[in-house]
Amino acid sequence: MRIVILGSGNVATQLALSLKAIGEEIVQVYSPNLTNANNLAEKVAASAISNLAAINTKAELYIISVKDDAISAVAAELNHVNGLVVHTSGTTDLSILSDQVKRAGVFYPLQTFSKSRNVSFRHIPICLEAEEQDLILLRELAGKLSSKVYELDGEKRKVLHLAAVFACNFPNHLYALANQILQQHNLDFDIVRPLIAETADKVMVNLPDNVQTGPAIRGDERTMDKHLKMLSNLPELQEIYQTLSNSIKITHK
Ligand SMILES: NC(=O)c1ccc[n+]([C@@H]2O[C@H](COP(=O)([O-])OP(=O)(O)OC[C@H]3O[C@@H](n4cnc5c(N)ncnc54)[C@H](OP(=O)(O)O)[C@@H]3O)[C@@H](O)[C@H]2O)c1
Repeated sequence: MRIVILGSGNVATQLALSLKAIGEEIVQVYSPNLTNANNLAEKVAASAISNLAAINTKAELYIISVKDDAISAVAAELNHVNGLVVHTSGTTDLSILSDQVKRAGVFYPLQTFSKSRNVSFRHIPICLEAEEQDLILLRELAGKLSSKVYELDGEKRKVLHLAAVFACNFPNHLYALANQILQQHNLDFDIVRPLIAETADKVMVNLPDNVQTGPAIRGDERTMDKHLKMLSNLPELQEIYQTLSNSIKITHK
């Protein structure tokens, strides 16, 4: 299938590499920054553009993987193409595309992607949305990439994305805060990596509520007071500590 990738960031990069690896033809990569477009285009033997007026109109699929707030503006430049135009966003409505292009869909991979870390799509859930005739094409493509293909409407996809922010983005930020605390005391992040790995492993076979540990669930008030005092020079972290401890207490009341 001839595919144009719009975007050269985390998702665009990993999707383009994986699509190329399963034998799809990436004909063009767009980014407003030509250097970024070129960097990705070179990896997948595509041409690079930084101006949407030069879009290849002969592709069968256009994957818009730019930041959510720019999807609409990019789609507006694709109103003349006959191929299917999809976005990869969890919280963006399909209508942002279908109001502007001839054929619209969603191809949302539920995973955390970084440009610098290559991933296998084999077990990544891919959530699809489109009219029935276009779902056929998306099902086929998603099925080649992944064993976990879902058809979800926009409301369900938004719920999934919200849950993903709690399951992935927030914990990762908490790792960053843990690292900040460690660094302040000349301790290396390496020392907590086994803890992070075991916490994630446990919820692969348990529900998180059943394996919660720590001072908040034990009701160890003195320990929590000591921690809050240790954070007295970091009021933002103190607030996060208090909010999360209260949430644990309420959940396990
Ligand atoms: N990252 C994830 O883990 C993840 C997972 C699932 C879905 N998604 C969704 O995938 C999409 C891309 O996310 P990402 O994390 O890959 O983003 P990203 O790494 O920040 O890349 C964003 C891309 O958008 C381009 N861009 C920024 N502003 C633009 C504008 N005004 N007009 C046109 N293009 C513009 C950037 O161009 P430059 O090349 O110039 O920087 C870059 O190529 C989003 O819809 C996001 O919700 C992300």
